[in-house]
Amino acid sequence: MRESIPHAGVCCVTMDWSTFYKWQAGRELRATFLTGLEALGDRAPGFAIDLGCGDGLETKELIRRGWRVLAIDSEPGVDERVRAAVGADDVLGSDGAPALEIWQSDFAEIHELPAADFAYAGFSLPFCDASHFPYLWADIRDSLRPGAVFAGELFGPDDEWFGRPGMNFHSLAGVEAMLDGLEVIQLIEDNQPGRSFEGPKHWDVFHIVARAASPN
Ligand SMILES: C[S@@+](CC[C@H](N)C(=O)[O-])C[C@H]1O[C@@H](n2cnc3c(N)ncnc32)[C@H](O)[C@@H]1O
Repeated sequence: MRESIPHAGVCCVTMDWSTFYKWQAGRELRATFLTGLEALGDRAPGFAIDLGCGDGLETKELIRRGWRVLAIDSEPGVDERVRAAVGADDVLGSDGAPALEIWQSDFAEIHELPAADFAYAGFSLPFCDASHFPYLWADIRDSLRPGAVFAGELFGPDDEWFGRPGMNFHSLAGVEAMLDGLEVIQLIEDNQPGRSFEGPKHWDVFHIVARAASPN
């Protein structure tokens, strides 16, 4: 991990994501991602957003299943990394239109998200600066079409990284409030010692799957 203090009063932590990607090489699809897909039931593949797409594994799986995907990540090289994961420079949907769009963007630079049937954010939202996170969450909520599913992780107050600048953390009550108005399909708090790519770490993670209301 590299830490930097760009200027007085505003501090950020820069995680070494390239080390993370190497550490995660050969990983399985995230369980919360698969639960999110299950929650979509027999809804036909539509448009998905993969926020903090990382190595592109979940984006690749969505493309394989026939989804169109917007993959977003701030880390340089995301375009090449995700296209390499998907195995093609250009991915076309069944209608011949591009099925994969990639934004190299910090969450703090996002001011609107396209309407989506599935918004997935695997272990990425905690790395949005707390000052911007409410806006990002509002954008995610706004992006959900009727019956669309959100799946992803947030970190709780017992997490060892609690208080790191540039991140956000939430109590269980806070997460429940954020999910107000959605049908909560899964809300699991995993609060226990484990490992991160930096070494031993106490995790406090909420694994969330929630669905926007469908029209009657
Ligand atoms: C822990 S990794 C998770 C990656 C992938 N979703 C996974 O499950 O393996 C977090 C990802 O979020 C990205 N990220 C971190 N902070 C970000 C920010 N502020 N804006 C956009 N992406 C960010 C990182 O580049 C990294 O790829």
